Amino acid sequence: MDPADFYTGIVADLYGPLKSHSQDPELYAAFIEEAGTPALELGCGDGDPLLELRRRGMDVDGVDSSADMLERLRRRADAQDLRATVYHQRMEALRLPRHYQAIFLAGPTFTLLPDDATALAALRGIRAHLAEGGTALVPLFTPAPTPAEQIGQVRTATAPDGAELRVSVVAEQRDETARTQTTLLRYERHHGSESTVEDRPWILHWYPRDRFEELAAAAGLAVAAVTDTDGKPAPADAAGLLHFRLRTT
Ligand SMILES: C[S@@+](CC[C@H](N)C(=O)[O-])C[C@H]1O[C@@H](n2cnc3c(N)ncnc32)[C@H](O)[C@@H]1O
Repeated sequence: MDPADFYTGIVADLYGPLKSHSQDPELYAAFIEEAGTPALELGCGDGDPLLELRRRGMDVDGVDSSADMLERLRRRADAQDLRATVYHQRMEALRLPRHYQAIFLAGPTFTLLPDDATALAALRGIRAHLAEGGTALVPLFTPAPTPAEQIGQVRTATAPDGAELRVSVVAEQRDETARTQTTLLRYERHHGSESTVEDRPWILHWYPRDRFEELAAAAGLAVAAVTDTDGKPAPADAAGLLHFRLRTT
């Protein structure tokens, strides 16, 4: 399966009910206030934070590679009487009719791009869709290996139809040279006598700061700031989620 199709089928069904936390819309609302509109969220999924930003009247479009996630977004938008323009595309092959003052990912979705070549293609797409003077916000982190005692542990939730939903880590491989971690996740849905069980590899790919800067430069983008999620400048050895702001060169 292509990594861009990970959030489809049973994974999309279980994404909402198993979600442990939503992206804080304030962070992205503040970024859009600062960078301007129109704005674009890459990897908007089922609509967090895109729908809240639309509810606040912000001109924000979305892109996602999963038709199943976008279908959920549309249903949620209808239920809240919101309109949103969303495109079913991969961020590494962006072709949109507008240019944007603000392009962002909410949380470390960029680490779902499995290698540097795909990341470069996505950065080129961002560059091509930034309006004059526009800014992109790319949150990045280096994932920690799943602790051994968590392998096999099951998280459960209940679907709206009463089905029991389960997800667990089956195994994990880490490649420090390729900078990838592949976690084999088992997704389960049990309802009465019916059961579905599917194992999916979830790939995360990360970057030392200088490597990300090189890729951005190759795409015609310069790193204007690296901050923590509170907006404070991040020292060179900072860990955790970092916000990279990119501008055209
Ligand atoms: C972790 S979800 C986040 C969704 C949403 N922003 C949220 O916080 O609930 C990541 C989303 O990125 C999408 N995605 C993954 N790879 C992608 C790609 N190459 N191009 C566009 N979207 C992608 C997935 O389909 C999924 O909906």
